[in-house]
Amino acid sequence: MFLEQVACDKSSLAYLFGCVGKGLAMAVDVHAGDEARFAAMAQARGVKIQYVVDTHIHADHVSGGRRLAALTGAKYALHESDHSLPFEFLPLADGQTLSLGNVSVKVLHTPGHTDDHICLLVTDHTRGDEPWFVLTGHSRCVGSIGRPDLHGRTHEMADRLYDSLVNRLLPLPDYLEILPGAQAGSACGGGISGKPCSTIGFEKRHNPTLSKSREQFIEEVSAVVLPPIDEIQSIIKINTSL
Ligand SMILES: [Fe+2]
Repeated sequence: MFLEQVACDKSSLAYLFGCVGKGLAMAVDVHAGDEARFAAMAQARGVKIQYVVDTHIHADHVSGGRRLAALTGAKYALHESDHSLPFEFLPLADGQTLSLGNVSVKVLHTPGHTDDHICLLVTDHTRGDEPWFVLTGHSRCVGSIGRPDLHGRTHEMADRLYDSLVNRLLPLPDYLEILPGAQAGSACGGGISGKPCSTIGFEKRHNPTLSKSREQFIEEVSAVVLPPIDEIQSIIKINTSL
């Protein structure tokens, strides 16, 4: 398989990965303006982008997902809870698996940062039938977690984030690599490390927030004050309109 991590503006991280042997790829969390760049990266690898996925409706940047999908003939995909949006997309369900030749991608619904947030659990079957890494979007960042306050309902979302992190991501194998959608400087989370990857085991051992009780977690996470995202409403409007 191949994997490329792409540093985008606003401290975001996007991805292109897939199966070189079968010539199939997936692009994740692509920014507007980067569409031609991703199309060229795929061409250079000799792969066709089969799926373009946004891990959630972004509030900090305009998505290039739909445009890249149109440009490359790929399917644009979001979690199925976005079903009321006025454009067509492939609705992804929790537990669903997408195939890219020898690579498979399992969808994990992980709400908390947003209602529709998903993580993508990736397996390269040429190496083994266990997952190798997880794209965590803005739910689990390195040394930090995604902010739950973007849409109000902060305590409720922090409660859902607790379930997503503690009950869904942390039980995954310790060796599993975490590849997040944001790095230090992102407005979607505070205190994020400048290192753009980690493992489940390292984060479990060295992030005290993850060992707190549910009540302590909600209290701590809800109390963190992060700067407001400029133009958040206009960005969301663009990402959810035709
Ligand atoms: Fe986000």
